[in-house]
Parts: sequence; C-alpha cells; structure tokens
Amino acid sequence: MFSWFKNLCSHTKPEIIMIAAIQKDRGIGYHGDLIHTIKDDMKHFVDQTTGHTVIMGRKNWESIPAKYRPLKHRQNIIVSRDTNYRADGALVVTSIEDAIKKSDQKKIYIIGGGQMYNLGMAYADTLDLTIIDDTKPADVFFPDFVSMFSNVEKSEWMYDEQSHVRYQFQMWERR
Ligand SMILES: NC(=O)c1ccc[n+]([C@@H]2O[C@H](COP(=O)([O-])OP(=O)(O)OC[C@H]3O[C@@H](n4cnc5c(N)ncnc54)[C@H](OP(=O)(O)O)[C@@H]3O)[C@@H](O)[C@H]2O)c1
Repeated sequence: MFSWFKNLCSHTKPEIIMIAAIQKDRGIGYHGDLIHTIKDDMKHFVDQTTGHTVIMGRKNWESIPAKYRPLKHRQNIIVSRDTNYRADGALVVTSIEDAIKKSDQKKIYIIGGGQMYNLGMAYADTLDLTIIDDTKPADVFFPDFVSMFSNVEKSEWMYDEQSHVRYQFQMWERR
C-alpha cells in the first residue's frame, strides 16, 4: 500500500474501545441495572470517556437516570432499531456501523449493554475492563473475549469498602 494512503487511513480510522465492569463470570447487568456500583470504577469510566464519543444501546441509555443524560462532555450516540426513537441531547442511529461513521471524535467508547458489546466485538481494538471478583446473579453478560484479545496491562487488586468486593483494571488488545 502507498505510504500516504496508509497514513491517511491511520489518521481517519477512529480507535474503538469497549469499556465495561464485568464479574468473573462476565455478568454485567441484572434486571436492567448494573450489578455493582464501585465509586472508583465510575471515576475511571468518566476519566476515560470524557472528551470522546460514547456509543450505547437503547436499553443502556434508558437505564441512566434522566438527570445524567446525555453523559456530559461526550458525544452520545444511541443505537435502536426504532427509526422514531428520540433521545434528548443524543444522536440516534439504527446500526453500530452508522454510530461509528457518525462519530465526530477519533476515540470511540462502546459503553454497553450486552447487545452493544456483542455487536462491538467485530470492531473493538481495545477492551478497558474492570474485573470484579464476584458472581452475583446476572442476566446480561459481556461476550467471551479471551481468544481474540491479549491482556496487556493490569492494576493491583483493589478493595471497595462500600460494596465489599475486590476489583482490578485490565487492558486487552486485539490479537
Ligand atoms: N457492567 C457494565 O459495564 C455495563 C455497562 C452498560 C450496561 N450494563 C447493563 O447492561 C444491561 C443492558 O444491556 P442489554 O443487552 O439489555 O441492552 P443494550 O445493549 O443496552 O440495548 C439493547 C438495544 O439496542 C438496540 N439494538 C440491539 N441490537 C441492534 C441492532 N443490531 N441494530 C439496531 N439496534 C440494535 C435495540 O434497541 P430497540 O429495542 O430500541 O430497537 C435493543 O433493544 C443493563 O442491565 C445495564 O445495566 C452494564
């Protein structure tokens, strides 16, 4: 490939990251809500995603309390099959491909839920995961990723005094 073309591609292709807090059994949600609320993990989520695009499924959008929507200082894109769906302060599209195309930022975070993570597996360069050392009941799961991604970074295990669980930040890159 011509180097100028290669450069053009690398400049235009956004970086796509899936960010999630997952239990050891990959559980991420229960009855439409999060399983755990870890303050330090919430801070990590805000720190990482601020200034970038966030793509989420319609159910995830609706699970966010109205006063926090749209997520501030981020371009919010919602994916729904319903062409009439409206989300105040957010862009609504009908496919994840369209969401990626419509991003006006170079860094895109896919922020869930389960259906969006499944769709995002084909596009993600990186996984930014908070692993939670717990297996509480879950009805939504993060997809199996270990055969497609390699662990490149992990923090020490930390302990959340409020929810009484251990957690660890891990970065995974596509093989
Ligand atoms: N632990 C974490 O890090 C984390 C992060 C985020 C969310 N969650 C949890 O995940 C759960 C929600 O996840 P979920 O899997 O139920 O829902 P979701 O992925 O948030 O949204 C699902 C919706 O996305 C739309 N959709 C899905 N596939 C589509 C496609 N191919 N084309 C167009 N639109 C499509 C549909 O919207 P329409 O029905 O409108 O067509 C579908 O109902 C909640 O429990 C939430 O708390 C956990």
